[in-house]
Amino acid sequence: MANEVLKVWQQVLANADRLRNESLRELFNQDKSRAQSLTRTLKDGQTEIVADFSKQLIDQQALDSLLLLAKESKVLEKFAEMCQGAKVNLTEDQPALHTALRADAKSSVLVDGKNVVALVHEELAKVKAFTEKVRGEKKFKTVVNLGIGGSDLGPALIYDALRVSHEPQIKCLFVANVDSTEINLALRECKPEETLFVVCSKSFKTAETLANARIARVWLANGLGFDVHDKKLAEHFVVVSAKPDQAASAGVVAANSFQIWPWVGGRYSIASAMSLAPTLAFGFDVFTEFLAGMRSVDQQMQNTAPENNATLILGLVDVFNFATGRYLSQAILPYSSALRLLPNYLQQLIMESNGKSVRQDGSTIETSTSPVIWGGVGTNSQHAFMQMLHQGTQAVPSEFIGFAAIDNVDEASHDALIANMFAQSKALAFGLTKDEIKTGKDASHRLMPGNRPSTTLIAKTLDARTLGALIAMYEHRVFVFGVITQINSFDQWGVELGKTLSIEISHQINDETTKETSQSDSAVNDSSTKSLIGWYRQSRKSK
Ligand code: F6P
Repeated sequence: MANEVLKVWQQVLANADRLRNESLRELFNQDKSRAQSLTRTLKDGQTEIVADFSKQLIDQQALDSLLLLAKESKVLEKFAEMCQGAKVNLTEDQPALHTALRADAKSSVLVDGKNVVALVHEELAKVKAFTEKVRGEKKFKTVVNLGIGGSDLGPALIYDALRVSHEPQIKCLFVANVDSTEINLALRECKPEETLFVVCSKSFKTAETLANARIARVWLANGLGFDVHDKKLAEHFVVVSAKPDQAASAGVVAANSFQIWPWVGGRYSIASAMSLAPTLAFGFDVFTEFLAGMRSVDQQMQNTAPENNATLILGLVDVFNFATGRYLSQAILPYSSALRLLPNYLQQLIMESNGKSVRQDGSTIETSTSPVIWGGVGTNSQHAFMQMLHQGTQAVPSEFIGFAAIDNVDEASHDALIANMFAQSKALAFGLTKDEIKTGKDASHRLMPGNRPSTTLIAKTLDARTLGALIAMYEHRVFVFGVITQINSFDQWGVELGKTLSIEISHQINDETTKETSQSDSAVNDSSTKSLIGWYRQSRKSK
């Protein structure tokens, strides 16, 4: 760290230390305007997301030190550089241009001398034309998205979140796992002549996705009475990939091949053709709204003064909670069934981006990095794991997400839902003291310690625009955390070893001639893995 940054970082740590013994009750008692001073709003005239972080163990002094840290670390300058195509992903020698995916058509971002915004809009025009054709023809009633990680979680989240307010014209199913029970269950709901498969794979080499595409092809060929190599099957397959040549060699016709680019990370690809499935379901206009919500947050991040910049400040609160080592995990608690997939989506976005132990320059990080992200919808979570959040020995910062109104819901139920959300954050923050417990019986068991931090995000409604804004806000929080901890938030080398080993282990499982001795020559030579392979080979259904 540069000297100035290090100095401010020490201040941040001192503030974290000082606040360790503070109580939220006290902080609220001392400052009657605390809720107002520790709330920021993302707002653009159409979408409004209120972010109340006053129930975090933070105060103005700590916030000032964090804002100074952002200034010294040049977070906003670096954000602008990223949006303009700087090569921020050093280990892959790539820019990270997810913001270009929703940039205004008139803007320009050059990568290797080419304006990528123009490429993006060409592709969007192709997505629009394809969507209108498919929706107009009404031949396909079901779309099965085959993809994993960012090629699954993003489109699945959009579909699930928006089908409450928009009737899908085409039903979407999402298949990710190489566990074929997933595709088998999905195919039970499909009729071959009415089914379109959208194969999403940036690399076009992800084992799970290619295995599912193979199963889909055989199912389709059998169902339609074609040979598995018949060219007519191509009508039922669309590919979204950064490797269109490979898609073409696999028989995908050009009109059904959509592009993303090496400068978009898988977990940052939700604004691309990767979201073709929900676009087919709801129409291109809905996707356009989603992109507008994202673009608005990109612009607010760039153009809002730091002290009012909701996204920047939420990212700094994450830094304060997790990079200082105060807390190790974060619970994502949408009080909206429409957002039940948000915790899964954020797991990849946050943990794959910032779950690292070295800085961009390869040096070891001494502080903490990504929290463990987990969660579930309210109120279900209250009857499952929230006991631990209230009275467990480990404090877990929670993030509550709710909406003032959602289309097609019962209003009384919705009021009850939101009342529960407010009740939970209040109970976590302020707890219950001995004096407040009405009975002396089992008092120590009934005590609620309080001081469990949370942020509440509340928006007017969950429309496509708000969903886009929410996702962009999380993307940029991840960026803020990455800049301050000096992580490369855009690579994911940690997933590679498992991929390589699984190929080797597959060979060992399937090679009938494999003997103990040859196993010991391979990388998979530890006694535990060896004996597990041996047990599995003996116990599986013999081939
Ligand atoms: O293995 C991790 C990962 O590369 C993710 O980052 C990505 O979203 C996912 O796999 C799927 O990759 P692809 O789109 O190349 O199939």
